[in-house]
Amino acid sequence: MTTELEDYSQPVLPGSGDSDYERYLRTDELLSLQKTPEEWAHRDELLFQTVHQSSELWLKLAWTEVEEATRLLESGEANGAIRLLRRSVESMRIVHGLLDMLEQMSPWEYTRYIRPVLGHGSGFDSPGFSNIRRVSPALGQAFHKLRRDADLSVVELYQRGREFEELYQLAELLIEWDERVSVWRMRHYKVVARVIGDEVVGTQGTPVELLGKLIKHELYPELWDARNELTTLAKEHD
Ligand code: HEM
Repeated sequence: MTTELEDYSQPVLPGSGDSDYERYLRTDELLSLQKTPEEWAHRDELLFQTVHQSSELWLKLAWTEVEEATRLLESGEANGAIRLLRRSVESMRIVHGLLDMLEQMSPWEYTRYIRPVLGHGSGFDSPGFSNIRRVSPALGQAFHKLRRDADLSVVELYQRGREFEELYQLAELLIEWDERVSVWRMRHYKVVARVIGDEVVGTQGTPVELLGKLIKHELYPELWDARNELTTLAKEHD
């Protein structure tokens, strides 16, 4: 009996591209999503588009996992939710790291050549961030329902964290998620100040100053407040 050797050089998946790598990842489409050199107002548009487009991909993964983690929590699968929330947190770390690359641009070249071709484009219209704003409150609600079902206040959950390990881990992941979003905002504010200044208005007329105020926004204020209470309570034990 003869066995035919498989020709690994030939693609087997449907789609365009010479190899399965290109077909599966749809690299033709992906790599045509950036302006061509002929279209560039400035060559740093490639850097600018790469950072924004890749940020949108990681944000998509982050909120998709938060949404699924919420569904898992609602059906009582806390461990499954914990696994996914770790990914959301890591995704935000990557999005945070991507901001470093924007500081490789010259503020003059950005404001003179790139900013004028952005139209009214503004981060307020980022689909990734809009979805983060949409899905994050439901995660908080699902967590607080589980906590209430265990008959615990947030402060009690922290005091008795060793007894309620899963709930404790969840609380810590929620605050980590909240913190990652805020820390991104802080970093973004600094990048904006460094590139266009902090006493100017954005492409949709928003004063950059307002971005500084948004840093204080908390997704899960109860989890932050509990720290204040715990500090007060600990002092009473002195
Ligand atoms: C040179 C780089 C950047 C500059 C100069 C910049 C500038 C600004 C400005 C001025 C605003 C205020 C709204 C407006 O008027 O447009 C804003 C908001 C925002 N930008 Fe950026 N941005 C930059 C990079 C990024 C990147 C890489 C992302 C990643 C997705 C991003 C996402 C956002 C978001 C989500 C907001 C809304 C603020 C919030 O919800 O806290 N920006 N940006």
